[in-house]
Amino acid sequence: MADDLKLTSNTKEEKYIELIPQIKALVDGEKDVIANMANICAALKHGMNFFWVGFYLVKENQLVLGPFQGPVACTRINMGKGVCGTSWQKKETIIVDDVDAFPGHISCSSLSKSEIVLLLLNSQNIVVGLLDVDSDTLKSFDNTDELYLSKIINLLKF
Ligand code: SME
Repeated sequence: MADDLKLTSNTKEEKYIELIPQIKALVDGEKDVIANMANICAALKHGMNFFWVGFYLVKENQLVLGPFQGPVACTRINMGKGVCGTSWQKKETIIVDDVDAFPGHISCSSLSKSEIVLLLLNSQNIVVGLLDVDSDTLKSFDNTDELYLSKIINLLKF
């Protein structure tokens, strides 16, 4: 068990490259997707030092809060609402440099300043949920995060 999950790298890309095999080792040994989502949140929150990391899952035509790490968050998001609901509606990854400049952003914490949202797709290419990562600094996310976070969520099987 990787209870000593630690990163020694400096750059963001190096950190992801160091973290991914550790996450893969955790996920490969477990078939329960909720357990795997929970460990991915912990690994990303503590490994990458993000402010908030969590999953929302599509249930009864809403996004419902799933496993997460960080401060308490809103539990249900409708399609088209906030960054998550917009990502779900448009069926695309969204990177927001400044959440205060995003129309309709749902603010769970005033400390959250920028975010990235990536879709979880099942084998039929249906959106079954999403990963939401928030930072307490502006402009934290770019294509590097999109690339490596995609690799991480692709480890989950729906
Ligand atoms: N950022 C989201 C709301 C969820 S919290 O940030 C955890 C949004 O506007 O979709």
